[in-house]
Amino acid sequence: PLVDLVSVAKSAKSQGVGLGAFNVVLLDHAEAFVRAAEALDVPLVLQLSQNAVKYHGALEPIGEAILACARGAKVPVVAHLDHAEDVDLCHRAVELGFTSVMYDGSKLPDEQNRETTAEVVKWCHERGVSVEAELGEVGGKNGVHDPSARTSPEDAAKFVADTGVDLLAVAVGSSHAMTTRGAKLDNELIRQIAQAVPVPLVLHGSSGVSDEGMAEAIRAGMTKINVSTHLNVVFTQAVREFLAESPDVVDPRKYFRAGNEVVEAEVKRLLNWYNEV
Ligand code: G3H
Ligand code: ZN
Repeated sequence: PLVDLVSVAKSAKSQGVGLGAFNVVLLDHAEAFVRAAEALDVPLVLQLSQNAVKYHGALEPIGEAILACARGAKVPVVAHLDHAEDVDLCHRAVELGFTSVMYDGSKLPDEQNRETTAEVVKWCHERGVSVEAELGEVGGKNGVHDPSARTSPEDAAKFVADTGVDLLAVAVGSSHAMTTRGAKLDNELIRQIAQAVPVPLVLHGSSGVSDEGMAEAIRAGMTKINVSTHLNVVFTQAVREFLAESPDVVDPRKYFRAGNEVVEAEVKRLLNWYNEV
C-alpha cells in the first residue's frame, strides 16, 4: 500500500536499518523496485525527480503510474517527489497523491532556503504530507563533482528547528551521479549530525558509495539511502550486452526485460544489505 515517509523512516531509524529510496526514470523501474521489495518484505521509497518529470514532459502520467504501483504493492511504499526546486511542482505532486516531497533549496542563499522550506513544510503538513530538505549542497547535480561540501551539526539542528522538516539530506562526502563507487564518507560527521538532529537523515548520491560504505553510514546514523545512477549503470550494461548478442531483436520488451531483471536483482541485493547492517 501507499504510505507516508515519516512512519517508515522513523521505524527504520529506530531499528538502525537503511530505507532504500530508488529513482524512477521509467515505469519499468517502479515495477522492478516493487517486485524486489516484495520479495524481501521490506518498505520502499519510489522517488521521482523534477528532472525525470521534465524528461516525461509532465508529472501526471508517470506520477499516476508510480501511485498505482505503490497502492498495488504488498509492502509499504512511499511515493516521493525528489529534488524539486519548483514549489508549484511540490504542490501538484501532493495534489496528485504523493505522500512525500523533497523541496531542494540547497542552491538558494541560506536565509531563502530556510524561508521557502518552512513555507513548503507548512503547506504539506496541513495536508498530511512529509517534507525532506537539503542543507549544505550535495554536489554533482550540475555534472560537477564536489565531494567537499559539509553540513555542520549545529546548522543542521537549527535548520530542522526553524523549518520543521521531517527528514534532512546532508552533505557528508558523497556526490551525485557517480558511476564509480569510491566516495569516502565522513562517518564521524554523520554520527554528530544524527545526535544533533531528531529527524531521520538522508544520504544523496549513494551510487558513488561502496556496499561497505553504505553499511557504515547506516551504522553511523544514516536512514534513507538514495540510489539512482548505479541502477542506470547496471540497467544500461545489461541492455548493451543483450543487444550486442542479439543484434536482430527490435522488440523493446526483450531488451528492457534484460535490463529490468538485473535492476530487480541489484535492488534486492541492496535492500537486503541495508536491512542486515
Ligand atoms: O536524489 C537522488 C539521489 O541522491 C541519487 O544520486 O544518482 O548519485 O545515486 P545518485
Ligand atoms: Zn539527490
